[in-house]
Amino acid sequence: MGSPVAGTTLFILCLISLTTTFAAAAFWPYDLRQGLEQAVRGRLLAGSGGGGAVVPISWSHAHYVANFTIGSPPQPASGIIDLSGELVWTQCAQCKLRRGGCFKQELPLFDPAKSNTYKTEPCGTDLCDSIPPDSRNCSSSGDGKNVCVYAADTRGGETGGVVGTDVFAVGSTANASLAFGCVVDSDIDAAAGLDGASGFVGLGRTPWSLVSQTGVAAFSYCLAGAGKGNSALFLGDAAKLTAGKSAPTTPFVNISGGDDEAFDNYYKVRLDGVKAGDAVIALPAGGSVVLLDTYSPVTFLVDGAYQALKKAVTVAVGGAPTAAPLKPFDVCFPKSSAGGAPELVLTFQGGAAMRVPPASYLLDDGNGGVCLAILSSARLRLPRELEGISILGSLQQENIHLLFDLEKKTLSFEPADCSKLN
Ligand SMILES: *[C@@H]1O[C@H](CO)[C@@H](O)[C@H](O)[C@H]1NC(C)=O
Ligand SMILES: *[C@@H]1O[C@H](CO)[C@@H](O)[C@H](O)[C@H]1NC(C)=O
Ligand SMILES: *[C@@H]1O[C@H](CO)[C@@H](O)[C@H](O)[C@H]1NC(C)=O
Ligand SMILES: *[C@@H]1O[C@H](CO)[C@@H](O)[C@H](O)[C@H]1NC(C)=O
Repeated sequence: MGSPVAGTTLFILCLISLTTTFAAAAFWPYDLRQGLEQAVRGRLLAGSGGGGAVVPISWSHAHYVANFTIGSPPQPASGIIDLSGELVWTQCAQCKLRRGGCFKQELPLFDPAKSNTYKTEPCGTDLCDSIPPDSRNCSSSGDGKNVCVYAADTRGGETGGVVGTDVFAVGSTANASLAFGCVVDSDIDAAAGLDGASGFVGLGRTPWSLVSQTGVAAFSYCLAGAGKGNSALFLGDAAKLTAGKSAPTTPFVNISGGDDEAFDNYYKVRLDGVKAGDAVIALPAGGSVVLLDTYSPVTFLVDGAYQALKKAVTVAVGGAPTAAPLKPFDVCFPKSSAGGAPELVLTFQGGAAMRVPPASYLLDDGNGGVCLAILSSARLRLPRELEGISILGSLQQENIHLLFDLEKKTLSFEPADCSKLN
């Protein structure tokens, strides 16, 4: 057995901003609607022979990031992988002219003027019209005449820009045409930026995401964790589990009763059972809808189940929790007493069981302790009708290969050594 402790200290500030901004970001009324799908399906992989693509991704600060290029000649960019993200976007050189200026990024800004293949999306196309009227506009001045401009609240912050199209090279997918957000204005903190990234790579269930634009029937990813080598995203035929059809599988679900629209872009499954070692954790009747997430490092568990889980882990650990847990965590233990921490088993609709070892949920606090990297969903301050949801964060998905079958509308998964898959 390895050490029951995750090897890295998380950037706590990221977690704090996560918990305060998540609810607002999720509820912004912007999301891209039907109509676009037909227009863009197949554009990207059509350029790569349709054989699928492997996109190496790496952990940076508290998120997973992909490097890619845009334009001819190619200019480098990097985006945070967001499983629920609605589009691919990067900050563009025109942000220099705007009131807020540009946020800090490691790479030079993408300059559309230096790309021979960049095109702006005209107003009135399927793509432009798929953006809700209150989130788009038609630029009517100067060079930007008849250009589709948009605003979107993404997980990083509110952003606005031009809808552009250019040649992308993403992982092994070379030179494919992709529509993207050329962001010129945002409320992202200029000095903090996105921890160095230039934008986002959205994989959400929306017409403008990377997944929809590539027209793939399936995609998968495997997250290796911090400092454990590269992780990978697999598109199309490259998305395969070793166990094939015998891998645990569970259907995507919708949120019933409430207003589903706010979470349309998320892949959701139903959690029917949680065990911590031998302890059975009670869930609400009918289970809890889980939003699968790559942006939030931590899991948010429906409150009643969270309280029971915290208790079960504390009992199993045996030692007294530390007096003042590191914020934003709720409970931490001295590292020396964490050896008895149990494996967690999450059982999804249909019986698909996901094993989460202590190393994936106990986080080193950098000060001789480990903290439970699972929080109560009460921290999200969701509206009453959505209080039953949970979110599965990226730390708890480490070394699990997750496959999203978009045709069968199912999630399958299996344990894997993610750093060895690419
Ligand atoms: C992306 O680029 C950064 C900066 O050059 C590098 O540190 C990182 O390892 C790269 N990631 C991948 C997956 O290649
Ligand atoms: C991709 O485009 C770049 C410049 O736009 C070119 O140099 C390169 O040869 C192209 N690669 C393929 C595989 O077409
Ligand atoms: C669209 O742009 C025009 C001209 O800049 C502006 O007057 C109008 O308020 C904008 N509409 C929206 C919905 O932002
Ligand atoms: C969930 O909602 C989407 C969009 O309305 C629909 O296409 C899908 O069939 C629904 N899935 C389930 C399991 O009800």
